[in-house]
Amino acid sequence: MGNINAAADLSVEGNIGIITLDSPPVNALGADVRDGLAGAVDKAVADPAVEAIVLICAGRTFIAGADISEFGKPPRGIGLHEVQAKIENAPKPVVAAIHGTALGGGLEVALTAHYRVAVPSAKLGLPEVKLGLLPGAGGTQRLPRIVGAAKALDMVTSGTPIGAKAALETGLVDELAPEGELRSAAVAFAQKIVAEKRPLKKVRDLEVKGGSPELFAEFRKANARKFRGFEAPEANIKCIEAASGLPFDEGMKRERELFMGLMTGVQSAAQRYVFFAERQAAKIPNLPEGTATRPINKVGVIGAGTMGGGISMNFLSAGIPVTIVEMKQDALDRGTGIIRKNYENTAAKGKLTAEGVERNMGLLTASMSLDDLADCDLVIEAVFEQMDIKKEVFGKLDRIAKPGAILASNTSYLNVDEIAAATSRPQDVVGLHFFSPANVMRLLEVVRGARTAPDVLATAMEVAKKIGKVAVVAGVCFGFIGNRMLSSRQREANKLILEGAMPWDVDRVLYDFGFPMGPFQMADLAGLDIGWSKEKSRGETLRDRLCEIDRRGQKNGAGFYDYDEKRNRTPSPLVEKMILDFAAEKGIARRAISDEEIVERCIYPMINEGAKVLDEGMAYRGSDIDIVWINGYGWPVYRGGPMFYGDTVGLQTVLDRLNHYRATQGDDFAPSPLLEKLAAEGGKLSQYAAK
Ligand code: 3HC
Ligand code: NAI
Repeated sequence: MGNINAAADLSVEGNIGIITLDSPPVNALGADVRDGLAGAVDKAVADPAVEAIVLICAGRTFIAGADISEFGKPPRGIGLHEVQAKIENAPKPVVAAIHGTALGGGLEVALTAHYRVAVPSAKLGLPEVKLGLLPGAGGTQRLPRIVGAAKALDMVTSGTPIGAKAALETGLVDELAPEGELRSAAVAFAQKIVAEKRPLKKVRDLEVKGGSPELFAEFRKANARKFRGFEAPEANIKCIEAASGLPFDEGMKRERELFMGLMTGVQSAAQRYVFFAERQAAKIPNLPEGTATRPINKVGVIGAGTMGGGISMNFLSAGIPVTIVEMKQDALDRGTGIIRKNYENTAAKGKLTAEGVERNMGLLTASMSLDDLADCDLVIEAVFEQMDIKKEVFGKLDRIAKPGAILASNTSYLNVDEIAAATSRPQDVVGLHFFSPANVMRLLEVVRGARTAPDVLATAMEVAKKIGKVAVVAGVCFGFIGNRMLSSRQREANKLILEGAMPWDVDRVLYDFGFPMGPFQMADLAGLDIGWSKEKSRGETLRDRLCEIDRRGQKNGAGFYDYDEKRNRTPSPLVEKMILDFAAEKGIARRAISDEEIVERCIYPMINEGAKVLDEGMAYRGSDIDIVWINGYGWPVYRGGPMFYGDTVGLQTVLDRLNHYRATQGDDFAPSPLLEKLAAEGGKLSQYAAK
């Protein structure tokens, strides 16, 4: 016996053949694994000494799915369906032994086994929808045959895995094995099956329960908002419908057709790209592998306002003690009160226990003195966005913080190098730009100053992962990656409403593009008076004028829109008139503006600005920019981010349209040299990496 190939091994213990797959890091079903698995099943079936087969994986997990990096490439090795047929049709019982995550193709392989055993910590799921796909190896046809149509619908359209205990309750798992003893428990289970002469249980022979037309109609209706814009959820629903209404083999055909439709589409290409882009963003070029990081066991936060509170929650939730410092007692009380309220709300939703609330709050120390930050390993400043104040705070911090402590600023726009220069240790200073609400949004821009030390950068990335953020490194420039690009969109949105569109037109078009909301809705939500001062306001912008008549946004019921008590919005006739007057005053002749122009004017300058960010080395890779936009600004993941979208439209087309608008709108549209170069070479922004 022994090795079948580099990825698979067959050994025999008594009357049980044990197939072990070993293909780090996650035993994905690449050609080697498929070939090895098929060979091992053949051999075990042919061996008269083997009466039952256990399929188990080495390393940290059971098969985590198809090998996504193979998608779109010419097929190699044996097909997955063929391997599955060998397992399902084996004349001896096959038991899948599951630890870690049985995901996608991994769970689909397990579903062709006759029995499944799992350790309690294992998770089982079909996450294909997150890659813009559906389970294409019989998952949509077999899963509902065990768990019923309703549960299957939920699992395939959310992509969220279930734990082994829940799997046991639904029958997806036949028996739980003690943690750490999977192999021996699975072998014992297989021996029991043989001794009891249990039948070869084929999932395909079961009937789907609960697949009524009403179930599907209601499910579609209830989730319409959540699935808006995405193709994959609907295709997944259709498959479960097919499983409910058609014989197994016909259902499989339907699954195949729908799978191929998604696989060849732009949305899945975008979502698969994002999967790898997110993992790529964690890697810092030129940083030696294994750069030692600094231990972060205690965190200080300065400022208990909108951001400071949310930032603190990230660490408290991860079990890291936080000292939060304010200059005003009432602000401190308000800030810590909001933290508690947020945790209590989470608890009310059943997502945190009452003890959990107290445990987290017990890690928080509130203080009015910066001196209390002396023993912190990391201090994050989140005070007002004013350079003089930030410099003063960093100067004081420099005298207080212990040597080696990392000093971070949450500034949105300011120059991190200038802030660092207020200290005697610029190598320890870094930008940590969280997004609001900071306890919810996944993005963290890590701003690398000119003198930020490599281990500080590496520590920031590590900490980000620990608190569940997706971190992207940005260079020092106005607004870093995200806000810098947002400014170009905002500039055009503001121009468009003077030239002929209305705020609700721009918002509708960007909502339809896939954003959760448009720029004017967002402005109303954030508050129009952010950064606005009554004393200095001279009615120079529309925003000034709105604030001057106390239209400050959603919070006081009036902004670009009118709001009712339930915060439902309607276009404001008053604002419409103000816009018309303002345009007339400025001598702008209004004209009809098409939806297409709104998309081009708002999105293409962002692509252009992204190219400039790349050209200046302010982002390492085009894909990092896409990760910023997807995780920080609600860019629709099925469009892959602004760089990927530019590539999809075609860089030459983007360039032509920028030049077209430049002729009428001026140099705001001047194309980036990198964009011109890539368009000429047929290159791609999403694949671009700084040298
Ligand atoms: N194919 C190829 N590579 C994969 C992979 C896959 N299915 N899953 C993970 N990897 C790679 C990652 O890219 C990463 O590579 P890197 O180290 O070079 O960056 C490495 O494995 C480790 O991954 P993570 O950093 O994500 O490790 P975690 O421990 O945090 O998470 C995991 C492990 C939960 C398995 C997570 O990687 C994951 O969710 N993977 C994707 C699972 C999935 O979507 N499966 C379905 C695939 S589609 C399918 O099966 C189609 C079928 O129906 C026909
Ligand atoms: P905020 O006004 O809500 O809170 C700032 C808090 O800092 C106030 O409570 C104030 O009392 C306190 N403070 C001021 N000076 C202080 C000092 N010297 N010592 C201790 N506390 C002091 O402001 P917000 O919105 O939380 O912003 C903070 C920082 O985060 C700014 O730099 C801002 O640009 C940035 N930011 C804001 C985002 C947002 O959406 N609000 C998003 C990302 C970054």
